[in-house]
Amino acid sequence: MGAVRAAYIEQLGAADVIRYGEIAGPRPGPTDVLVDVLATTVNPVDTFVRSGRYPTPMAFPFVVGRDLVGTVAEAGPGAPGFRAGDRVWCNSLGHGGRQGAAAEQAVVPADRLYHLPVGADPYAAVAVVHPAATAHLALFVHGRLRVGETVLVAGAGGNVGSALVTMAVRAGARVLATAGARDAAYCARLGAAEVFDYRDPDLTAKIRGAAPSGIDAYLDTAGVNDLERTVGLLAHRGRVVLLAGAGTRPVLPAGALYMNDRSVVGFVISHATPDELAEAAAHINDLLARDALRPRDIEVFPLSAAADVHAGLESGELGGRRAVLRTDLAPVTETPR
Ligand SMILES: NC(=O)c1ccc[n+]([C@@H]2O[C@H](COP(=O)([O-])OP(=O)(O)OC[C@H]3O[C@@H](n4cnc5c(N)ncnc54)[C@H](OP(=O)(O)O)[C@@H]3O)[C@@H](O)[C@H]2O)c1
Repeated sequence: MGAVRAAYIEQLGAADVIRYGEIAGPRPGPTDVLVDVLATTVNPVDTFVRSGRYPTPMAFPFVVGRDLVGTVAEAGPGAPGFRAGDRVWCNSLGHGGRQGAAAEQAVVPADRLYHLPVGADPYAAVAVVHPAATAHLALFVHGRLRVGETVLVAGAGGNVGSALVTMAVRAGARVLATAGARDAAYCARLGAAEVFDYRDPDLTAKIRGAAPSGIDAYLDTAGVNDLERTVGLLAHRGRVVLLAGAGTRPVLPAGALYMNDRSVVGFVISHATPDELAEAAAHINDLLARDALRPRDIEVFPLSAAADVHAGLESGELGGRRAVLRTDLAPVTETPR
């Protein structure tokens, strides 16, 4: 097995611990697929893994990155669903003992690899697979969403928030959204029934007015996690799904919660099972095939810029833009939309 160029770390630390250079190529096992990587992404969680804020087993040199889009180079005998040349994607590398995606080649267990729908733009697809899988898990696994329910998406203009709106609307929910004023039109285009400016001092009263029977599923991607306020907005048996704001220490109004059969549940995508991820992937592929799931704003960087992109995400310099890192294997003709 030859060498591959990769973005990797030899120790946990700040963004500048990321090196770019050659390491030994990965060796697939019998149930693995070796993928020639076209592109990967940088997610908030990739910075948590790199810094050690999200502890996970890893061997050094450790290749960073969760997501990839690429082409099958070779498939093991225990990976019969894949053949050399297939265009594929994955969103669960780089944690749990698996090496990451930010390399010219990556090994992916067959049960964590999915075909990319024909016609889907690889850069646009790789940009959405992490936030969209998070949205799927939040709505359908942890939020137990049912047709006709009312969903509140806080931060609906963001990566996870926009996927939440798209998926909840298509699942037959009535979606209320909070977003910055400049994102209101975008959220409405995604299908939100009403969009509220999160800076509006009357926000709580406006949400209550729009959902007099209460919110069935409240999803706060901004991580404000004001449970005293949100639990009071819930319907009977309403759910708050926590997925961001790791440092928050909200006050929990216990009576308002248990006397109305309400619940607060949290999750991270990192703990999703391969079956849950595969179900999310099928949903995502259905939307990608219909061109119904798109990143709002992506910026493509060379893989060698991984350290700078990690730093840019952490400092807020990237804004809401999704960073895609392309390897030199990516044809320059494939441009993001
Ligand atoms: N649990 C998991 O498995 C999981 C998976 C993926 C991501 N996450 C987490 O999810 C969070 C969101 O990620 P993302 O990529 O979607 O981020 P993002 O694209 O930056 O979206 C966050 C959005 O929240 C908006 N916002 C800020 N303050 C708000 C407030 N007070 N009320 C309502 N909206 C507000 C922002 O608007 P402005 O632009 O106006 O500030 C922005 O549009 C991150 O903390 C990430 O770590 C968790």
